[in-house]
Amino acid sequence: MSNRLSDDALDRIFREARTHNAWLEESVSDEVLRELYELVKWGPTSANLSPARLVFLRTKAAKERLRPALMEGNVEKTMAAPVTAIVAHDERFFDHASRLFPHYPAIREMFASSPKVAEETALRNGTLQGAYLIVAARSLGLDCGPMSGFDNAKVDAEFFGASDRKGWRSNFLVNLGYGDPAKLYPRGPRLPFDEVCRLL
Ligand SMILES: Cc1cc2nc3c(=O)[nH]c(=O)nc-3n(C[C@H](O)[C@H](O)[C@H](O)COP(=O)(O)O)c2cc1C
Repeated sequence: MSNRLSDDALDRIFREARTHNAWLEESVSDEVLRELYELVKWGPTSANLSPARLVFLRTKAAKERLRPALMEGNVEKTMAAPVTAIVAHDERFFDHASRLFPHYPAIREMFASSPKVAEETALRNGTLQGAYLIVAARSLGLDCGPMSGFDNAKVDAEFFGASDRKGWRSNFLVNLGYGDPAKLYPRGPRLPFDEVCRLL
């Protein structure tokens, strides 16, 4: 298996990568956020329709807009993080079919005619793209703190009323920055292969 990543890379992306709650005083530039998206966008999605939409909150004023929606336990670390990404999806994602799936743009109708299929597809693929975000961030040397402890309706009302963001729906949040390893809790175990996998 000569084309596998090095053990060092696998450690940094998976085995030793932790969920961080405390952040070093090191900022994350807009250039790094652009570089991050340039990796995230290549992750696969259904019919390449790429429903995720990302809002990077990296100023105090933007963070303050998020504060009222956060669960109490998520406030301090989110306010302290250099960046908080709102991982959202566009419920009208299929309107881009002719650009993103040009060899079969009629796929749009499959979603336009069924709100249930569209909603499931947006959530499934938007969540996948959120996971790509975590893996890409770790690959760039950033640390992440994903969170679902917040009021989605409040976030949607606060951030997604503007005409160019109408129809965006929040899924989860990811704090981004350089984590303080001294403040980590002991790591939780994971389930072993034989308990969760079946080889058929
Ligand atoms: C989708 C998602 C939602 C989460 N929500 C919260 C949250 O609201 N608050 C929190 O403190 N941690 C939250 N976590 C963090 C998890 O508890 C953490 O990632 C998990 O325990 C694994 O920790 P480790 O990466 O350090 O091994 C969330 C993680 C994910 C992926």
